[in-house]
Amino acid sequence: MNTITAPLSSAEATLPARRPAAWHVDASQPVHFSVRIAHGLLEPANPLLAQQCGGTRHTPQRRLVVVDRNVDALYGEALRRYFDHWRIQATWQVLDIDESHKTLEHALVIVQAMERMGLLRRHETVVAIGGGVLTDLVGFACSLYRRGVPYLRVPTTLMGQIDAGIGIKTGVNQGGHKNRLGSYFAPAGVLIDPGFLASLDQRHLNNGVAEIIKMALIDDEQLFHALENTVGHMAPGAWAAPGGPLAAVMERAINGMLAHLIPNLWEQELSRSVDFGHTFSPALELHAKPVLLHGEAVAVDMALSLGLATGRGYLSQDEGVRALRLIERCGLPIQNPVFNLALLQQALAQAVQHRDGQQRLPLPGPLGHCVFVNDLRPEELANALAWLTHYRASTERLSA
Ligand SMILES: NC(=O)c1ccc[n+]([C@@H]2O[C@H](COP(=O)([O-])OP(=O)(O)OC[C@H]3O[C@@H](n4cnc5c(N)ncnc54)[C@H](O)[C@@H]3O)[C@@H](O)[C@H]2O)c1
Ligand SMILES: [Zn+2]
Repeated sequence: MNTITAPLSSAEATLPARRPAAWHVDASQPVHFSVRIAHGLLEPANPLLAQQCGGTRHTPQRRLVVVDRNVDALYGEALRRYFDHWRIQATWQVLDIDESHKTLEHALVIVQAMERMGLLRRHETVVAIGGGVLTDLVGFACSLYRRGVPYLRVPTTLMGQIDAGIGIKTGVNQGGHKNRLGSYFAPAGVLIDPGFLASLDQRHLNNGVAEIIKMALIDDEQLFHALENTVGHMAPGAWAAPGGPLAAVMERAINGMLAHLIPNLWEQELSRSVDFGHTFSPALELHAKPVLLHGEAVAVDMALSLGLATGRGYLSQDEGVRALRLIERCGLPIQNPVFNLALLQQALAQAVQHRDGQQRLPLPGPLGHCVFVNDLRPEELANALAWLTHYRASTERLSA
C-alpha cells in the first residue's frame, strides 16, 4: 500500500545553518618508491623490470614504453626481446630527444600516446627509458594525464642515474626559462643499470660527473678524494663495470643526493645545498653559444662560486684551486665568455625570485660542507670573475 506523506512545512524544510561556514582539509600523501642499482636489467632472466612495471609472465599485460630514439637504436632489440619474454605487449613511443624538445608540446605527444592506447589509470605503469630530458618529460606528462598515472623511470645517462632520474621533480622548459612548468610527481620506482653508460659519449659522462662534483664539494669530502683518485679513469666502460671504483663513486653520489632530497621532497625548505652550482647556471644554459649541457653550465657556476667562497674565506685558496683543477680534469669548463657581470646579476635576481625573495646562495666551505649566503654584493661577483681569470692565466703560464 502506498503511503502519501504530507509535504514538509517551510520551517521543517530549512536545514540548520553551520556557523562559521568553513571546513578544514587536512590530508597527506605518502610517497614510497625504491631507487635500485640493477645490472643486467634487460637480460630476459632478470624479472626486475617486468615486476617493477607490474608485469608477470602468467597474465599478458600492456604497457606504454617511452624511449629516447638514441637509446632505442642501441638497446631497442634487447628491450623488445625482454618485453616479449615477459608477455608484455609494449606500445612503443620513440622520441627524438634533446633539451630543445623539453616542451609542453612534446609532453602532449606522450599524452596523446596514452590516449590512443586507452591507458588504464592505475596499473598500466608507463615506462620511461632515457636521459634526464626524457624522464623529466614523461614524468610531467604522467602527472598531467588524468591527474596522474604511474610511471617507472629507467635512466640511461649518468646525469639521469645520479640526479635527474632519482627524485620526484618533472618539468618542461617554457618562455625561455628552464623547467618553468613542472610538478612534483613521484615515480613508481627507479631502476638504474650502469651498463647503459657503456654507450654514452665522454662529453655526456662528464656532464653527469659535474653533479657528482657538486655533491662532493658541498656534502662529502671523501667523495671529493675519490673523484681526485679516479679522474684519469672515467671512460664509459669504467662507469658501466660492476664493483669498480666508479661504481662506489656512483653509489656514494646517489646516497648523498637522496639524503638531501628525501627530507625536502616538495622543497618547502628553499635553502638547498643541492642547488650549489644552480644559481647562475640557468642563465648560462640559455645564453651560451655554442650551447652548453646542463652539467657544463653547472661546472662554470661552481667555478665562479668557488671564487665567491674563497673570497669570503669559507674555503682556503688551496682548496679552491684543488676544486677548480678537479673540475677541469673531469673535462668540464670553468669559464664562459657570456658569463659577464650583467648576466650574473640578472641570473641572481632570477634565483632570488625562485627562492622566494632571498638569495639563499649555497657555497662550499670548508670542503665537503655548505653555507648559505643572503648578502652577496656585486663586487664579490666581479672579484670571483677576476679570481678565475687569474687562475687561468697562471695555469697557462705554467703549461707554456
Ligand atoms: N628532474 C630533476 O630533478 C633533474 C635534475 C637534474 C637534471 N635534470 C634535467 O636533465 C636534463 C639533462 O639530462 P641528460 O644529461 O641525461 O640529457 P639527455 O636526456 O638529453 O641525454 C643526453 C644524450 O644522451 C643520449 N643517450 C641517453 N642515454 C644514452 C645511452 N645509454 N647511450 C648513448 N646515448 C644515450 C640522449 O639521446 C641524448 O642525446 C636537463 O633537461 C635537466 O634540466 C632534471
Ligand atoms: Zn643539475
